[in-house]
Amino acid sequence: MTDLSLSGPVPDEAEDGVYLACIECGETFAPFAEPTYECAACGSLLEVRYDEYHGFDSFAGAGVWRYDAALPVDDGVSIDEGNTPLYEAPTIEDEVGVADLRIKHEGMNPTGSFKDRGMTVGVRVAERIGVGRLACASTGNTSAALSAYGARADKETLVLLPEGKVAAGKLAQASLHGATMLEVEGNFDDCLDIVSELADRGEVYLLNSLNPFRLEGQKTIGLEMLEQFRDQTGDLPDRIVLPVGNAGNTAALHKAFRELVEAGEIEESEVPTLTGVQAAGAAPLVEAVEEEADEVTRWAEVETRATAIRIGEPVNWPKALPAIRQTGGTAVAVTDDEITDAQRSLAEDGIGVEPASAASVAGLRKLRDAGEIGADEQVVCLTTGHLLKDPDAAAEAGTDPQTVENSVSAVLDAAGD
Ligand code: F0G
Repeated sequence: MTDLSLSGPVPDEAEDGVYLACIECGETFAPFAEPTYECAACGSLLEVRYDEYHGFDSFAGAGVWRYDAALPVDDGVSIDEGNTPLYEAPTIEDEVGVADLRIKHEGMNPTGSFKDRGMTVGVRVAERIGVGRLACASTGNTSAALSAYGARADKETLVLLPEGKVAAGKLAQASLHGATMLEVEGNFDDCLDIVSELADRGEVYLLNSLNPFRLEGQKTIGLEMLEQFRDQTGDLPDRIVLPVGNAGNTAALHKAFRELVEAGEIEESEVPTLTGVQAAGAAPLVEAVEEEADEVTRWAEVETRATAIRIGEPVNWPKALPAIRQTGGTAVAVTDDEITDAQRSLAEDGIGVEPASAASVAGLRKLRDAGEIGADEQVVCLTTGHLLKDPDAAAEAGTDPQTVENSVSAVLDAAGD
């Protein structure tokens, strides 16, 4: 039985009030003694737990480290991550027909995706544990963020990428920040299998979202979003719609809200409904939700234009399925064309995102059309990565430039009146 209860005795292994707990068997572990990714007793996922949980009054400053009272370390390897905008999206709000729609644009982080929030915490924890080489498997954004934060911490980084399936902007980032980049002849899931094995052998410190410390950083998306939404509207959102790959954010947002409930800041009934969106060609979590299954089964073959979420087994599913079910949410699959349409709609409101991010808006549109999301709902869509991450996808979704003669009249003719 998955046990996501945060209250309970603090074990002797706790350091600074922080410990790791297995979400299945409840076994607890020391946080910083050695690299620990999964439960040594039963193999399930771990979660960071604390002796105390905090409400909004405990937070000061801006960005991820505003929330240091809710994080496992006091400060990070930081390049000013977080503090991303919560935009209005009037055109989409009108067209889709919901009471309120805001876009939480995580593409506005230093390396252009939400991954920075996890890395500022995860790389600091790596320093505290005292590890050597940092590593990840990645569809692109994790590798870009790890390369930057690894460089900042002066640590060697190794990134495993699915050959030919990583967008150009992300490759350029990992390359310039100096990671060792290996393109594996396989998909993301194969890369993660390999890097997990390397981590088990002690060759590398794993910074995929299997690492519970990374999700602590990503938890701040939820904390920041609620504060901004309340400042802007005086209310809390009813629903959050987000793209799902490894389901790290689904798990992290749920943890943020559970902690606020534990701290007495919000009521259980005020926790926003978590709604996951996957690409139709890589939708194992949607399948499990639709079939009301207890487990998620890996898809061996995956394909989608949204390469960031081209993932056959969301590793955080044991956290994400309860997150969706306990908040009364759902999961939905969208086609690549629906994703591109949503990318264009966001662009019309001035918001530039990569395809995986647009999946959230495509999912909102689909669920609203189906009547599963109500007209009275206040919704936040999470957009996870910047448009420039995948310039090829943006160019394909947009219009082509026209070549003209080098003269004012030719430009006027071509541009129209
Ligand atoms: N959106 C973007 C832009 C991503 O890069 C990812 C994951 C997701 C959504 C999915 O988030 O895993 O929390 O459900 N990218 C990982 C990577 C896999 O390697 O960059 P999740």
